[in-house]
Amino acid sequence: MLEDLKIISYPDPRLRRVSVPVKEFRDKLGDLVRRMFELMREAKGVGLAAPQVGYNIRLFIVNHTQKPEDDRVYINPVLFDAEGEETSSEGCLSLPNINVDVTRAKSAKMQAVDVNGKPIEQVETDYVARIWQHELDHLNGILLIDHMGPTAKVENRKILKELEEKYVAEHREEPRGKVK
Ligand code: CO
Repeated sequence: MLEDLKIISYPDPRLRRVSVPVKEFRDKLGDLVRRMFELMREAKGVGLAAPQVGYNIRLFIVNHTQKPEDDRVYINPVLFDAEGEETSSEGCLSLPNINVDVTRAKSAKMQAVDVNGKPIEQVETDYVARIWQHELDHLNGILLIDHMGPTAKVENRKILKELEEKYVAEHREEPRGKVK
């Protein structure tokens, strides 16, 4: 059920898979996108990729202003003409309390299709171009921690360990009750 969807966290293995292209544009895709926007708003995020809610399909959403008119959906996205370089701090809804300086292209062009399968093409610089690159990483199983240098790895070791322990605790098999 889509109502039960939630944002999954590192080290959930679903975040590490390479997602597959979307081939069918049915109503349920729109339902998934709507639910993803809800979850992104609740978490006060600016981007969310389908693998972050457990769907390994090439789809992500962006809203860099929190205004409803700035909701954007990108399906089967391909990035072109990446130009320039800029380093800035990034966070990720699947890695709570972690910020990493990441060097990304400053501007890029994006080709994708929308939720109805209609082609879209956009050019962006700075913040939105950065969000695109972050979310595209998710579709390829790449996480913020893969962009960490040695210092950041040491600085965030404790938080990562806590996330790993939390995941193990939540996914430990419950002992079966004895059947009488
Ligand atoms: Co992220």
